[in-house]
Amino acid sequence: MALIDWSPNFSVGIAQLDDEHKQLIKMINTLHDAMKQGKGRQALLPLLDELTDYALNHFAHEESLMVQHKYPEYEQHKKIHADFAKKISEYKKLHDQQLLSANQLLNILRDWLISHICNTDKMYGPFLQDIPTT
Ligand SMILES: [Fe+2]
Ligand SMILES: [Fe+2]
Repeated sequence: MALIDWSPNFSVGIAQLDDEHKQLIKMINTLHDAMKQGKGRQALLPLLDELTDYALNHFAHEESLMVQHKYPEYEQHKKIHADFAKKISEYKKLHDQQLLSANQLLNILRDWLISHICNTDKMYGPFLQDIPTT
């Protein structure tokens, strides 16, 4: 069973960004499945790296669209991404030192991403929608 399922409530109203959010959710579920199957650190680590790399690329993509559309909350949103990116690397270090379990790390990533999509990302929807992409 998936840890989280995509819900229309998660939609930010921009198909390509919804698709990236769906992919992030898919990767969280893949990681969760691997953990449930009792896969060891060696198997989990590449999945975790893949997920965090994808998240960082996704942040950069959102930021470039915000700049393109002159989104007024750009600086604030960018800072939230940067703060979380810093936290991810700290959490990964704790995980490497076995001070944070894969399960704890997964829950942190899931909770942050869902809350970020539903609260912070959704706010850019109308701004990025109204102006057609060139
Ligand atoms: Fe996002
Ligand atoms: Fe975002």
